Amino acid sequence: PHKIILDTDPGIDDAMAIFFAFQSPAIEVLGLTTVYGNVPVTMSAQNALRLCDLAEVDVPVTQGVGLPWVGPESTYAHFVHGDNGFGDIPVAPPKRQLDPRSSAQFIVDTVKAQPGEVTLVAVGPLGNLALALRLEPELPKLVKQVYIMGGAAFVKGNVTPLAEANIWNDAHAAAIVFGADWELTMFGLDVTYDIPFAPDFVDILAEKNPVLGGFVRDSSQFYMDFYSQGLPQRVCYFHDAFPLAYLIQPELFKFTRGHARVGVDTLDRGQTSLAPEGSTMSPLWLDAPQINVATQVDHAALTQLFIDTYAN
Ligand code: BDR
Ligand code: CA
Repeated sequence: PHKIILDTDPGIDDAMAIFFAFQSPAIEVLGLTTVYGNVPVTMSAQNALRLCDLAEVDVPVTQGVGLPWVGPESTYAHFVHGDNGFGDIPVAPPKRQLDPRSSAQFIVDTVKAQPGEVTLVAVGPLGNLALALRLEPELPKLVKQVYIMGGAAFVKGNVTPLAEANIWNDAHAAAIVFGADWELTMFGLDVTYDIPFAPDFVDILAEKNPVLGGFVRDSSQFYMDFYSQGLPQRVCYFHDAFPLAYLIQPELFKFTRGHARVGVDTLDRGQTSLAPEGSTMSPLWLDAPQINVATQVDHAALTQLFIDTYAN
């Protein structure tokens, strides 16, 4: 199986993605590292423990950065994920305990123990990855690859017309992560906003897996209220599960490659923009590392993969 560290801010689609990873025989989760984002970091960490309780999975869970690299405390996405991060359904206090290390330290320790084998999958703001790069400058040589849910290269953002939430929430950290010399693949709104999931999808997850799918169905009702505003039908988006689906079934996705920059100024904050490989654009972009950007995904096959994996 693919060994991963899953960096997350649970979060409803984070929960759906974490369970998906736990359920897949193709993925071995070495730990959950948490970050602020949808909720404050203390809640994010406790929520990750709660998800491990529900899944009865014992993996290290760490608490990470609670503030952006630059600037004041973030605003959280309670209007999307509810006050408790899980659509305000009742949740029990966690039984499991946090690993005492910071998320960045856990990433460095784990990657160093298995050089070349660990994939970092980050589905929240990128502060933990940026801090890990500062703690261990050799990190890019030691990780296998980095997959992120975040950004919007060819479509509009969801916080500003230019920026997606995970990148917007810590644009300076994202600029560090995008600027590092490692193999980075971005699953942004280009693909995740392309597939609306309707209530019957979460009903099927609940039927296949009453505990984990049931939790996704119940918590995502609030999430659907948010995403369905002004629409004739109820829908929501399971952004964070996409990079994991790619690990399991890479043939479902199509990509483009280019030199990427992350905006950190007031108006372009969090923008992820790409100069195509081999283009004649300015060195301002062509000097930046190249990344892979997911641009297309097979909807039907992806939906079936989620269902089959929850049924495991
Ligand atoms: C991203 O922002 C968060 O609200 C979701 O969990 C996802 O990681 C989508 O823009
Ligand atoms: Ca997330």
